[in-house]
Amino acid sequence: MNPDNRHRPLCEESCQAALSREKEAARAGRLSRIIETSFNEIYIFGGENLRFEYANATALTNTGYSLDELCRMTPLDLKPAFTPESFALLLLPLETGSATHVRLDTLHRRKDGSTYDVEVQVQLLGDREDHRFAAIIRDVSDKNCALRALAESEGRFKSLFEKNHSVMLLIDPDGGRIVDCNEAAVRFYGYPREKLCGTPITEINTLSPAEVKKEMKRAEKGRRSYFLFRHRVADGSLRDVEVYSGVIPLEGKNLLYSIIHDVTERVTAEKALAEKTALLDQLFENAPFAIFESRIGGELLRVNRAARELFGYSEDEMIGRTCDDLVVPENRKQEGRFYTEQLHVSRQLVAFEDVRQRKDGALLDVSFIGFPTRLKGAVIGGYGIYHDMTARKEAERLLKESYLELEKQLLALRRSWNQTIHILAAVVEARDPYTAGHQKKVAHLAGEIANRMGLPDDEIDHVIMAALIHDIGKIEVPSEILSKPGVLSPLEIQLIRTHPEAGRRVLSGLQTPWPLAEIVFQHHERLDGSGYPRGISGEEILPAARIIAVADVVEAMSSHRPYRPAWPMEAVVAEMTRQRGVAFDSAVVDAWLEIREQ
Ligand SMILES: [Fe+2]
Repeated sequence: MNPDNRHRPLCEESCQAALSREKEAARAGRLSRIIETSFNEIYIFGGENLRFEYANATALTNTGYSLDELCRMTPLDLKPAFTPESFALLLLPLETGSATHVRLDTLHRRKDGSTYDVEVQVQLLGDREDHRFAAIIRDVSDKNCALRALAESEGRFKSLFEKNHSVMLLIDPDGGRIVDCNEAAVRFYGYPREKLCGTPITEINTLSPAEVKKEMKRAEKGRRSYFLFRHRVADGSLRDVEVYSGVIPLEGKNLLYSIIHDVTERVTAEKALAEKTALLDQLFENAPFAIFESRIGGELLRVNRAARELFGYSEDEMIGRTCDDLVVPENRKQEGRFYTEQLHVSRQLVAFEDVRQRKDGALLDVSFIGFPTRLKGAVIGGYGIYHDMTARKEAERLLKESYLELEKQLLALRRSWNQTIHILAAVVEARDPYTAGHQKKVAHLAGEIANRMGLPDDEIDHVIMAALIHDIGKIEVPSEILSKPGVLSPLEIQLIRTHPEAGRRVLSGLQTPWPLAEIVFQHHERLDGSGYPRGISGEEILPAARIIAVADVVEAMSSHRPYRPAWPMEAVVAEMTRQRGVAFDSAVVDAWLEIREQ
């Protein structure tokens, strides 16, 4: 064997070994760089005292120690949670070979005393006999922080959900079942939580299942978030609820949350208010008189049917304009403005009667009442009510006309009565020369007394007319008796005393508007019942008959008769005073005495 050849393989071997060593060194260098620049902390520790032998740059940065300082320390100096015993237990599986590495979450303490969360992986380095370990440590404080914040936030939201006074439900839109509810929901619906969770929302909502599904779809799509429903609670009663709903992603699923407010009382009150308003609107619209509602300044806000019909405008033609523009005739504009000002500026009640104009130009007699409307004490406008007076005015005019006509007729009638009575009086007087003019004188005096007593004119007339014929019954008495100059026999007296009855009989055929025949019949009755023909007394005797009785007696006593001379006036006054309140009415006698004194 050629010695060169013999040495050649040796040379090649050494070259290859050198190459391999170079490669190995390069690989070690790369690993070293990776370890050195790793974002994780990397330590090598071991030996009897477990001191650090190596720590990478991240370890120095994170802990704040220098390599020299660390090389005098053990992992226990960095891990406050561990005692030598617990750390020995940690390493035990590696030392016994029952595990290749151990993992744990713990805290690292920095040089400045502060701590941070770390994830630790320890593994044996080399042989068990070497008792050397490599530790790779990841700073997880940021991650843990985020997790803690998330947990806290979840807790807060859970508490917000659970303890909220608002009723809250979580609903699975697929199937529409309640998947969670809060305490307020349990109280409101009256079901135990276990029953409520799992209940289909269609059992609570009074809408049909199809409608409930449609509404849930809307909430799910975000097209609608506010709903008004009626919900049935455990005792079977129905509640009006206001529901705010939306999507909440939870555990990989989109659920619907619902915040529910019981608004039954509000809805009931609103319904009652709406009914009341509708009723008031109906009353306003159908009122039988024209009503205008206006804001301050007179601009019309609302007019009712009667107003539109009365003035002939449509609603559109009226709203936004003022009454002054629409219905006040040109020549009354000034008064119209005055009233509007009184109502809207001085805020006073306004009432008047005037003339207003329809759209077609026709004039109307109207009465108007206007009053300011107030809201919380402030005047916000006014109401005006027009009442059509045309018919009433026309009726008044007709009434006045007919009254005048009636008066005319009455006057004619009175004239006719007067004539009749004067004729009758003349007939009587023609037959009886002794009492010629007696009735006229009695009528004159009775008229004066009645006037003195303050009787109305027509009653005075009645007294005068009755007095003018009060002795008409004497036409039935033979004229020899009437004109007999001597004393009359009892029979003759009896005959003369029939004249009031005869007078009534004669006059009862006349249809007079006052009791003429009865007055004549009573003119010889006396207050104390001592008169004739019936002997009636006091109030039974008509006032006119009481007046005529006094005038008749006074006139008779004052006149000369064939059988006796006239009484002196003093004697007449004395006699009448004596009979005042006895045979004759005191007021009548007093009136006569007053006339006398004048
Ligand atoms: Fe008489």
